[in-house]
Amino acid sequence: MVNKIVNTILFVLFILLIATIFLVRRDYATRNIEILPGMVAHTSYPSLAATNVFPDGKLLQPPVEGTIARGFPPISYSVSETEAKRAGEELKSPLVAADSLNDIQRGGKVYSAVCLPCHGAGGAGDGIVAQRGFPPPPSLFAENAMKMKDGQMFHVITFGQKNMPSVAAQVTRTDRWRVIAYIRSLQKQQRSLAAGQP
Ligand code: HEC
Repeated sequence: MVNKIVNTILFVLFILLIATIFLVRRDYATRNIEILPGMVAHTSYPSLAATNVFPDGKLLQPPVEGTIARGFPPISYSVSETEAKRAGEELKSPLVAADSLNDIQRGGKVYSAVCLPCHGAGGAGDGIVAQRGFPPPPSLFAENAMKMKDGQMFHVITFGQKNMPSVAAQVTRTDRWRVIAYIRSLQKQQRSLAAGQP
């Protein structure tokens, strides 16, 4: 008898529970109850918030004058031939020999994407842009380019030279050294071909 009463009560409670689940709908637009919310919603300002901490009322402040962004030490050369020569004397490639195959491979990709349209696939200065009337660049196998120091080439790519525009915006600094390594490998091939070596 007692069992029956308990069962009935449990059954009624069960039905009530089911009914409550259906009646009390979850509102996905509001947050659940949060316990110790400080861990989730921190009290710091959003970056673009206004503030009265700084005189200009903005939270984001410009970098202090003279700040050097990590990985972007200043390139202290101006645009002129003497400066390009000075870069040739002073700048050295930061690439390490152990990665040279990867570097040359990457340099080749950069060359095809950025330099090839003007300098041509083989570096002879016969790219499609030159074929359509742009003053053709000299061959990268001419004596001048063969003898040009890596640092000067870096200056040429960074600042341009006469009719060649700067391509610094398209090519990162490391990729500039890689494309130089690629050109060097082409030149080396050319040299051994000229010398009749296989
Ligand atoms: C818009 C066409 C154009 C593009 C793109 C271009 N160059 Fe040039 N480049 C030239 C021209 C034109 C010259 C010759 C400038 C002059 O009269 O001194 C030149 C000159 C050079 C020289 C000097 C050659 C010498 O003997 O004086 C080098 C090195 C060079 N380019 C490398 C590159 C590399 C590497 C890239 C790609 C990262 C590149 N260039 C992209 C047009 C281009």
